[in-house]
Amino acid sequence: MKGLGTRRKLLALYLGLALPFGGCIASHEDEQENKDMIVVGFSEVGAESDWRVANTESMRNTFTEEAGYELMFHDAKQKQDNQITAIRNYILQEVDYIVFAPIVETGWDEVLEEAREAQIPVIVVDRMISVCDQSLYTAWVGSDFRAEGDAAVKWLDEKLIEQGRDQEEIRIVHVLGTEGASAQLGRTAGLEAGLKAHSNWKLTARVMGEFTQAKTYEVILDLLDQGTEMDVIYCENDNSAFGAIQALEEKGICCGPEGDVLIISFDATRAGLTYCMEGKIALDVECNPLHGPRVKSIIEQLEEGKSPEKQWFVPETYFTRENLNQELIDSREY
Ligand code: AHR
Repeated sequence: MKGLGTRRKLLALYLGLALPFGGCIASHEDEQENKDMIVVGFSEVGAESDWRVANTESMRNTFTEEAGYELMFHDAKQKQDNQITAIRNYILQEVDYIVFAPIVETGWDEVLEEAREAQIPVIVVDRMISVCDQSLYTAWVGSDFRAEGDAAVKWLDEKLIEQGRDQEEIRIVHVLGTEGASAQLGRTAGLEAGLKAHSNWKLTARVMGEFTQAKTYEVILDLLDQGTEMDVIYCENDNSAFGAIQALEEKGICCGPEGDVLIISFDATRAGLTYCMEGKIALDVECNPLHGPRVKSIIEQLEEGKSPEKQWFVPETYFTRENLNQELIDSREY
């Protein structure tokens, strides 16, 4: 690995050269300050959900100049190609660290090989990557999406027993998130296991919600227009749940733990929890987006020459109407 802070040295060199020729008004203190800045190139998935916005804010609020960082931010607009291009640009610019929230799990080997050749540490955040050689990235921090799916299935199982519906046919509509994203793969795997374990659970439809309210609204409305019957809608994030609720309400269908349709969701954003407290979302499994300080802690360990944990799973919980109140919702950061 090359010495950390190449970009920092380049900045110092630039300032040193600029002063005599261009009349650059950087003082000695400015020069010293810039020299010490850690440059982080971050490529974010996009802005598809409230969760994502909170994640972006967490990164922006953490990697500030006051904290000693220069953050280069890139919005990939949900396209893997855009992320690959951004990573290549960060390599060219010799940033100190490359951080990215991968849209999908596969297809990263080549570009990460390039980052390795350039000796730039890569930190993966939120979703995971699937690479042949684990040394292509330095560390990952994010959620255990499979565990989230399992928690949702366990809750549904218990809820149906409590309602005395565990022998009834339960018609489930599954709204998928972005295909190939860890959040989709893990949550889907949880549901798949639940379907296998319960012969009375029937998958009546599987539709693409892309983690967005607009897309889910459209697909659920379509299903309702076709007369698809549903007892449960398994939405793979809060914004998807908002779209499903919007479509159901438009058709006069009531959702909630005691309503016609049980909505299961993931994220537990403030808006999601508000719906949950109102009873519209029956279960909201937490997915924590506040990764800025966690990534910073990984970088700090690297700066100190330490080896951070390769994988860091964030502890998470789940919410129902029963364990929610306004004070709790207001106290949450996202
Ligand atoms: O990868 C995390 C998921 O992506 C969140 O559940 C979702 O809201 C986001 O878009």
